[in-house]
Amino acid sequence: MASYTIRPATPRDIADILRLIKELAKYEGVENRVTLTEKDLLEDGFGERPFYHCLLAEVPAEHVTHEGYNIVGYAMYYYAYDAWIGKSLHLEDFYVMEEVRGCGIGSEFLKKVSQTAVQDHCSSLHFIVADWNHRSINFYKKLGAADMSKQGGWHLFELQKKHLVKIATEE
Ligand code: ACO
Repeated sequence: MASYTIRPATPRDIADILRLIKELAKYEGVENRVTLTEKDLLEDGFGERPFYHCLLAEVPAEHVTHEGYNIVGYAMYYYAYDAWIGKSLHLEDFYVMEEVRGCGIGSEFLKKVSQTAVQDHCSSLHFIVADWNHRSINFYKKLGAADMSKQGGWHLFELQKKHLVKIATEE
């Protein structure tokens, strides 16, 4: 495997980030659920108040993928807060292009994200994995991750925007 570097994303990477987000959504069988635009990603990640952070894996020009890409993976995360234990990180997305999987890029992403979490005194790293994604589940379990939906008995809930608007505007 060619050498690669892991680096923070910059505004110039927006098109690659959206491409990779769509690839991960396709892998998860929900490509049509991605409504985010490059403009959203730019404003939300690089404005005055960044809502996410993103690391990218980049290979040198002489080792671009068959499709001609040199940005081959991403890890997107944001800070969260747990009322019991304080600061935590949420790993939102984690993806490496199939052509370069199994070469250590994913492990390096997790190392960097873990280093950030430790440096910033976060007590935990949270993430959500589809129940059919056994390879990823096994990978996370090998690193020591606990399945909170099983062990903790927690359920993940969502209030979609129409409900938020109703609650927010109800007299
Ligand atoms: N294909 C191949 N290997 C996988 C896969 C997969 N779909 N999913 C997990 N792995 C595991 C391998 O088994 C390997 O474990 P091992 O070394 O003990 O055998 C492990 O990934 C680590 O290998 P690396 O080379 O360090 O990681 P890689 O660069 O392949 O990246 C990743 C791992 C990101 C999971 C990558 O395989 C991938 O993009 N898979 C498809 C998308 C995916 O499942 N993303 C995670 C969704 S969950 C979330 O985003 C929070």
